[in-house]
Amino acid sequence: MTAPSVSGSADAAKAQAADLLEQMTLLEKVAQMTQVEKNSLTPEDVAAHGIGSVLSGGGGNPEPNNPQAWLEMVGRFQRAALQSRLKIPLLYGSDAVHGHNNLAGATIFPHNIGLGATRDPDLVRRVGRVTALETSAVGVRWDFAPAVSVPQDVRWGRSFEGYSQDTAIVSEMATAFLEGLQGDDLRDPTAVLGCIKHYVADGATTWGSSQRVDRAALEIDQTLANANVDESFLKLVSEGAWQLDQGSSDIDEATLRRVHLPPYEAAIKAGALSVMASYSSWGGLKLHAHRYLLTEVLKDELGFEGFVVTDWEGVDQISPDDFYDSVVQAVNAGIDMVMVPFRFERFMETLLGAVEKGDLSLSRIDDAVSRILYVKARMGLFGDTGTLPDPVNVGSAEHRAVAREAVRKSLVLLKNDATLPLTKSQTMLVAGRAADDVGYQCGGWTITWMGGPGPTTPGTTLLEGLKIAVPLAEISHRADGNFATHAEVGMVVLAEEPYAEGMGDKEDLHLRPEQIALLERVRAQCDKLVLILFSGRPLILTEQLPLCDALIAAWLPGTEGQGVAEVLFGEYEFSGKLPFAWPESMVQIPLARLEQEPLFPLGYGLTTA
Ligand code: BGC
Ligand code: BGC
Repeated sequence: MTAPSVSGSADAAKAQAADLLEQMTLLEKVAQMTQVEKNSLTPEDVAAHGIGSVLSGGGGNPEPNNPQAWLEMVGRFQRAALQSRLKIPLLYGSDAVHGHNNLAGATIFPHNIGLGATRDPDLVRRVGRVTALETSAVGVRWDFAPAVSVPQDVRWGRSFEGYSQDTAIVSEMATAFLEGLQGDDLRDPTAVLGCIKHYVADGATTWGSSQRVDRAALEIDQTLANANVDESFLKLVSEGAWQLDQGSSDIDEATLRRVHLPPYEAAIKAGALSVMASYSSWGGLKLHAHRYLLTEVLKDELGFEGFVVTDWEGVDQISPDDFYDSVVQAVNAGIDMVMVPFRFERFMETLLGAVEKGDLSLSRIDDAVSRILYVKARMGLFGDTGTLPDPVNVGSAEHRAVAREAVRKSLVLLKNDATLPLTKSQTMLVAGRAADDVGYQCGGWTITWMGGPGPTTPGTTLLEGLKIAVPLAEISHRADGNFATHAEVGMVVLAEEPYAEGMGDKEDLHLRPEQIALLERVRAQCDKLVLILFSGRPLILTEQLPLCDALIAAWLPGTEGQGVAEVLFGEYEFSGKLPFAWPESMVQIPLARLEQEPLFPLGYGLTTA
């Protein structure tokens, strides 16, 4: 049930939207439906057309990448929007999928898979709140999060964006995050509009079914520059990334409704007002063109009153050779705002032309624009003067403390043969490059789209955390695990190379040979071997398990590696539970093939209590 004050503001917002709509020209309406990446337009373009939204894509950061520069960048666009004829404020969007992860120095939380392991909605609500504080602090009021994906195949490069394989856990965690992000009142300047994605069943695609259009062929220079990737990226793409991501979800409607739709229903009840369409297809049709799912199910049946935005160049994929047809299909299906993100004039002309030709009705355009204006009014953006907040709290100790708590609670203890907690007097060897590397801890969607190793943003590595926990101990760390001594404890930290989206689609999830070699090397140099994994999903390590006395799935914990150290030394107890079943072999992937017991079932997790 909606509280009276909220429904009152909803009515007022509708009236405000209707009033504005009457004053708008067709071209102004088209501009409201357009979202452009910040590198592809100038503030003058925003002012001239009255563009509805601007985004920073993954890695779409200002130079220098600091709060002040973000504020100035967003502020320039916002002030330009307020100079357009009707002075309609714009919505600035970004992917703050684990904290405001594009901003150097922001607090980076565990990726959703780790938050799912905490099973702690109150904590996840606080994570949402801190994310909103750090995002709104630099003027960004729209976050393309939370993903409410329910991944069914952990070969998927976006597995870590999902809270769990289990629908109920996803619904619970995603709504908690959304409530924290949006706060009690969307008009509060620290409230950030969530965007639930990717609608729908993005986690159900079939291996090898990806129809990802080679975007490189379309916009090669922009794609490379914008995503901060070089030509080797294209080589990897051609060598077999994108097998699941953007593919086809070959499930029946009952499964779609039972497994993948409920988190949308829950999030809409909790106040979600924007939804991002999925690149994937269902029933042979791209979701971006799916009138039944976008309009009949989402808007009519679930009563969604907000607006639907496309994914990045998602429209282009409907009819790859016919942009006009793509735009017509998408908007007729129920798309309200289009993330273009490059050649926005071409998009605006195409949309305008389609209305003039009668392929798109004016009433559909009015509906789309009304929805966008309604959300802007609900957010109180019309009172926005273009003055921006003070970014003092970005990366504050208080915010990092919430992240550290999330790290502690996300750790899943999978094996413990009388080894943990460690005692501070034990001698210790630490092996693996990932033990002292913030970039590996953070994974993809960190500073750049793909993320990357190294000190990409300020944070505490696991090794630094260990040294804080036992300041007097001598802890030797060697990436290659070649120590001259023997120790009571050998700790091996292994990580997946950072990735995002289909770049992380991986056919074989076994540990790599050099990782196995490192484990074996350290095994010979210690009494007790502790293996810590930084990964965006379960990996196959059945054969290596006997080598380990203790095994911890630490997921992608983010900047606060100290949280891992605190639990290792028993300052806090292990409490995380597996958000995904941990397969014994590749034969058990995807989940539908999980006929025999996995190595560790969903919900598994030991305690040291
Ligand atoms: C952008 C990302 C986007 C990706 C889509 C990149 O160029 O930076 O934000 O998600 O393209 O493939
Ligand atoms: C991703 C989305 C993201 C968008 C904007 C796309 O490539 O699929 O998850 O929100 O880019 O960066």
